[in-house]
Amino acid sequence: MLVGDANQRGVVQLLKTYRLVVLGATGVTGQNTFRHLAEHLPADFSWAIAGRNPDKMKKLVSDFPDRNSTPAYIPADIVDRDSVDALIKNCDVLIHLAGPYATHGELFFEKCIEHRTHYVDIGGETFFIKRMIEKYHQAASEKKVILLPTAGYESVPFDLLTLLAITHLEGAYQEHCEKIKIVTSFHRLGGVRDNRISGGSIGTMRNILAGDDCNAFNDMACLLPPKADNGRVRDRNKIRYAARYDEDVQAFTGPLQPAPFLNVPVVLRSAHLLSQAGIDYGANFSYSDSMTMEFYADSPEGQQRAAKRSARINRITSIALAGPRPLRGLIRRRLDSLGVEPGDGPSQESLPFVDYTLRLFGESDRGRSIRAQARAKGHPGYLSTSKIVAEVGLFLAEENTRPPVSFGVVTPATALGLEFLPRLERAGVKMEMCDY
Ligand SMILES: NC(=O)c1ccc[n+]([C@@H]2O[C@H](COP(=O)([O-])OP(=O)(O)OC[C@H]3O[C@@H](n4cnc5c(N)ncnc54)[C@H](OP(=O)(O)O)[C@@H]3O)[C@@H](O)[C@H]2O)c1
Repeated sequence: MLVGDANQRGVVQLLKTYRLVVLGATGVTGQNTFRHLAEHLPADFSWAIAGRNPDKMKKLVSDFPDRNSTPAYIPADIVDRDSVDALIKNCDVLIHLAGPYATHGELFFEKCIEHRTHYVDIGGETFFIKRMIEKYHQAASEKKVILLPTAGYESVPFDLLTLLAITHLEGAYQEHCEKIKIVTSFHRLGGVRDNRISGGSIGTMRNILAGDDCNAFNDMACLLPPKADNGRVRDRNKIRYAARYDEDVQAFTGPLQPAPFLNVPVVLRSAHLLSQAGIDYGANFSYSDSMTMEFYADSPEGQQRAAKRSARINRITSIALAGPRPLRGLIRRRLDSLGVEPGDGPSQESLPFVDYTLRLFGESDRGRSIRAQARAKGHPGYLSTSKIVAEVGLFLAEENTRPPVSFGVVTPATALGLEFLPRLERAGVKMEMCDY
């Protein structure tokens, strides 16, 4: 795409070698992104996988015979400035899965703007995203480049389900939204069970503990530009890490796993950016999410205990991030003691044996209640995320008409909009408004 002038639609004029490149395809998440693309792309689609270990990349491809399309290989190391430059120069869209991102990620934002390459990742380090917005949002908007972090399970389904509900309220009733609550549930489907978290996800938490110097973890307005009413937005959307019985779903709920601090700022940024495109989330809009606990325990008592435990862990983390450094060090050491290394994670065989649902409960400023839901196939973190981000990359590689708010350091709802829903369905996530 983008070398030379982007035209009115932000479509790229000069052909680069690859329409799409996946960096980090050999990781826990990346493997399934590769497989989804290799299965679905036509044979003549020009794409590549990039990484630091050529033998591992070749093995990944040869171990997957059911492919329609075979990628090229690009040697790339995220710590090597020249290889990052060469990589980004040669693709229309980069899917960056070699996270966590805060340590070496800034170069990607800088180079994607320079070479006019759309960028997508699945990061959750809000302090880092905040910094990237402050430094690069304006330049990326002007150059019509899309820089989209948080494009996995967190936060694509949550952000888009919220957009769907808000658009419905406005379209069907001409009412604005006052409140959205989403309750998630993970479901076991029998078969192989494996609850382990990946080394990449642990790395994200370690990065937050080491690098969040602006308390973004606790600031739900952290991805908004400084504005007079951010204080009120903060108060309305403050996360209270607690276990509670939720009457709407008739179950105990606790904080969303694994990153309860991520969707809220993303959805609030969508609300801010989309208001510039005439989509009004409502003057007093608030968003919250939580999770039922049947994935962790069968009995109601066990679920209550699991919710309390999850709330406690998140409360301690929240206090640590707001407080003195030594407390953060304690949690980091606790994470280290788990012995989870980069590349570790749940077994690939276990990933299809988890599904998840999102149930949305909304209320308009005139007291109308609405409901929506998303049903999704596959482990949220390491299978659903992989497919979602693959489809996001393909969507960005298409020559779509895009509204101006799509460009810059943006969110799923702004970069993708409801036009993305058919592709989301191909990634296994189906959304709909519900009748009462
Ligand atoms: N938003 C969400 O819903 C969501 C869900 C899941 C994961 N995540 C995030 O996704 C990220 C990745 O997680 P993961 O579990 O897939 O991690 P992982 O298994 O550790 O994979 C990391 C990938 O990065 C590559 N890599 C590491 N260092 C590199 C370097 N110097 N140069 C080039 N490539 C390098 C690795 O290559 P090698 O194979 O050569 O080591 C591997 O392909 C994490 O930040 C995690 O938090 C987000």
